This record gives sequence, C-alpha cells and structure tokens, in this order.
Amino acid sequence: MNIVVIGGHGLVGRQVAALLRNDGHNVTAASRVTGVDIVTGAGLDDVLAGAHVVVDASNAEPPYGEPSYAFFTTGARHLLDAEQRAGVKHHVSISVVGTDRLESSPYFRGKAHAEAMIRASGVPYTILHATHFYEFLLAIVEAAIADQVLRLSPALIQPVASSDVAEAMAAIAVGEPFNATLELAGPERERMSDLVRRFVGDMESPFDVVTDPGAPYFGALLDDGSLVPRAEARCCTMPFNTWLRRSEYARANW
Ligand SMILES: NC(=O)c1ccc[n+]([C@@H]2O[C@H](COP(=O)([O-])OP(=O)(O)OC[C@H]3O[C@@H](n4cnc5c(N)ncnc54)[C@H](OP(=O)(O)O)[C@@H]3O)[C@@H](O)[C@H]2O)c1
Repeated sequence: MNIVVIGGHGLVGRQVAALLRNDGHNVTAASRVTGVDIVTGAGLDDVLAGAHVVVDASNAEPPYGEPSYAFFTTGARHLLDAEQRAGVKHHVSISVVGTDRLESSPYFRGKAHAEAMIRASGVPYTILHATHFYEFLLAIVEAAIADQVLRLSPALIQPVASSDVAEAMAAIAVGEPFNATLELAGPERERMSDLVRRFVGDMESPFDVVTDPGAPYFGALLDDGSLVPRAEARCCTMPFNTWLRRSEYARANW
C-alpha cells in the first residue's frame, strides 16, 4: 500500500511511518523538511500522486495561540483538496480527546473545525482522538511555569504513551475507513496537577506545583470532564511509571 504520513518526522508520525515500513508498505514521510507544506499547499500534489492512504500527524507550533487555528483549518483545506484530486481512499487523522469541548482555545477550536472539514470532505476517513501523550507533560510544564511555580488545573487526565498511539494509528491506516471518530487513552486516570507534581518530583526539579482550578490550559478552562475519554474508549496498556523509567526524563538533570 502507498501511504503518505504528513508530519512523518514528528513525535507520533515518525513512529507510525516506521511501523508501516516494517510492515512492508511503501511509506513517504512528508513535511516542510521534504518540501511539503500543508499551510501553503506546496508539494502536496506531487507527494500524493499514487497514494492510497494519507495519515495526517502534523502539528502546529507552540505556543498554540491564534496561529494554530489558521494552521489546522488552512492545512486541512489544502490537504483534503489535494487528496480529492489524487483519489485518496482513506484519510487518517490524529487529534485530541476533548477537542470539541475546548472552544475557548484557538488550538482546539482549529482542530474541531478541521475535523468538521474532514467529515464533510467525501474522502473516507478515520479520526483518532487520543489523550495527551506522556511526552507532552514537558510542554504542559513549560507552558505553566511562572516565577518557579507551576500553576495547574486539577482536572482529570488519562495520558497515553505515544508509542501505543502510533501502533493504533498504523493498524487503522491499513484497515477500512471507520468514517467515525475513535477514542484512545492510557490505563490510568489522575489529576493533572498531581501527575505533574509526581513527574517533576521524580526529576528533582526546582519547581513547586500549585493546584489551581482557575489555571488555564492553553487558553481553555478545564473541568473533570474536559480531557477524559468516553466510556467506550480503547485503553492502552503502558502505565506512566513504565514509560518514565524508559524515557530520557528518567535521567534528566535540572
Ligand atoms: N502531543 C500530544 O499529547 C497529543 C495528544 C493527542 C493527539 N495529538 C496530536 O498528534 C498530532 C501530532 O503531534 P506530535 O506531538 O507528534 O507533533 P510534532 O512532534 O510537533 O510533529 C509535528 C510534525 O508536523 C510537521 N509540520 C509542521 N508544520 C507543517 C506544515 N505546515 N506542513 C507539513 N507538515 C508540518 C512537522 O515537520 P516540519 O517541521 O518538517 O514541517 C512535524 O513532522 C497533532 O495533531 C496533535 O494534536 C498530540
């Protein structure tokens, strides 16, 4: 199968591309480093020629303000138009659990709008909503630091290893389109402020974590239902502590 992975050099995209290659598929990892830009449309027609499946694992750049809304909506328009021209048979997109509940964040508003474009495009699709990757905890820390203090919401989260998400995406890419949104989460549910406290504590970081229900999360206020999946979500097996022990952060030196 000819499969193009947009964002195929990113955290989850490169793992999806490697899994599909190991499975014997003809995989092209595409992004700005290979001359493909979904925001301008550059390189899309060339890279999609002959593609059966497109996996979109691209991402906006931090700090995830207003430009991320334009990234997802413009990017989806260019990508879906090019897929229609190329006759792509399955569009697989990775998104975040809770996207449709976080309207006040430009990042999530952009993702929700892009997902509506996918559903209306006529291209057979599967959207995978995953909870936060364990790897993303560092970005949460960086976004929340002020004066040596991390002010974080106590909202419930159920993060997941990006390797588990990549496995699910690779399996989806070679299957029939669901024409629906599926959900995927990690095995443990915990309060965001508690998990980050444990994360930075394990690394003996100099930051204090303050639990604050009013702390915004990339522009959105959270409650206990904002970031957790529906009951029918599929759960992956790798617990946080196993991931942390294997990760580069286990040896981090602040
Ligand atoms: N992080 C999480 O916790 C999490 C959880 C659930 C879902 N997700 C979703 O998973 C997706 C991937 O996240 P990630 O953390 O793996 O991303 P990432 O590591 O930041 O990688 C992003 C990729 O997108 C490419 N890209 C950026 N701008 C582009 C453009 N204009 N045109 C084409 N490619 C572009 C980048 O390559 P170049 O720089 O070469 O262009 C890179 O390969 C995102 O949609 C995210 O919302 C993330």
